[in-house]
Amino acid sequence: MRGLKNKNAVVTGGSKGIGAAIVSRLIEEGVNVFSLSRSIHDKILGANYFKCDVSNEDDVINVINKISKICDNIDILVNNAGIEKYAKLGDTDTKTWQEIIDVNMNSIYIVSREVIKHMKTGSIVNISSVQANIVTRNAAAYVTSKHAIIGITKSIAVDYGPGIRCNAVLPGTIDTPLVDMAARLEVGDDPEKISKKKAEWGNLYPMKRIGRPEEVASAVAFLASDESSFITGSSIYVDGGLSVLAPVSTPDK
Ligand code: NAI
Repeated sequence: MRGLKNKNAVVTGGSKGIGAAIVSRLIEEGVNVFSLSRSIHDKILGANYFKCDVSNEDDVINVINKISKICDNIDILVNNAGIEKYAKLGDTDTKTWQEIIDVNMNSIYIVSREVIKHMKTGSIVNISSVQANIVTRNAAAYVTSKHAIIGITKSIAVDYGPGIRCNAVLPGTIDTPLVDMAARLEVGDDPEKISKKKAEWGNLYPMKRIGRPEEVASAVAFLASDESSFITGSSIYVDGGLSVLAPVSTPDK
C-alpha cells in the first residue's frame, strides 16, 4: 500500500491474535515495527519487541522514550491491546472495572499522548469493537471502554489534523485466543466443542463465519497508509455485516 515502506510503527499487544496479524502485515508492507506487549510469546520475524504493560504509565513513558531514540518520527501507532471479562455492571467489582478501563481505554490516552510527542505527521489506528455500536449482554466495562475509544479517536482527529490522522477499526468476532477463551467459558476445554461454538457464532453473521485476524490487519494497513489520506475521525467496521443485520424475521417470498 502507498506510503508504508520504511515507515516506523508502534503496535500495542502485538504478540498474539489481531495484534500479531497487524505486526506481520505491516512488516510485509516494509514497515519498521515496534511491538509493545505485556508478555512476549512467539516473536514475529522482523519485529522489534518491547515488554510493556500499556496500562502502566511509567512503563509506556520508558518504552516510547527508547523507541524515539531509535527512530526520527513515529509514523504509525496502532492501539490494539485489549482484554475482556464478562459481567453485568452490578456484578463487576471496582478492581475489574478499573482494570478493563485502564487496559482498553486509558492506555490509548497514555500511549497516544507519549507517541504524539514524536509524531510530526502520521496515522493513529485504534482497535475498538462492533460493541461500540451493538452490545452483547454481560460485558458492561468492555462495552463502555470500546464506546470511549470512538470519542478518543474523534478528539485526536480534530485536535491533531492535518498532520496526524486518527481512525478506529470495529471488528466483529475474530478468531483469536480471546475468542477461544470466550468459547471455553461456555463449552469447556474440548477443542471440537470450541470449534462448534465458534461456527455457531459465525452462523449469526451475514458472512456465515467469524473473521480472521488478517482481515482486521488489512483495514489497519489501509488506514495507516496514504491510501486513506482523506479519512480521519472515522470508524471502519470489519464485522461481516453483523451490525447492519436486524434481528427480526421477514418472509422470503
Ligand atoms: P488477544 O487476547 O488474542 O490478544 C490481546 C493482546 O493484547 C495480546 O498480545 C496481549 O498480550 C495484549 N495485552 C493485553 N493486555 C495488555 C497490557 N496491559 N499491556 C500490553 N499488552 C497487553 O485479543 P484479540 O482478540 O487479538 O484482541 C485485540 C484487540 O481487538 C482488543 O482490543 C480487542 O478488544 C479487540 N477486538 C477483538 C475482537 C475479537 O473477536 N477477537 C472483536 C472486537 C475487538
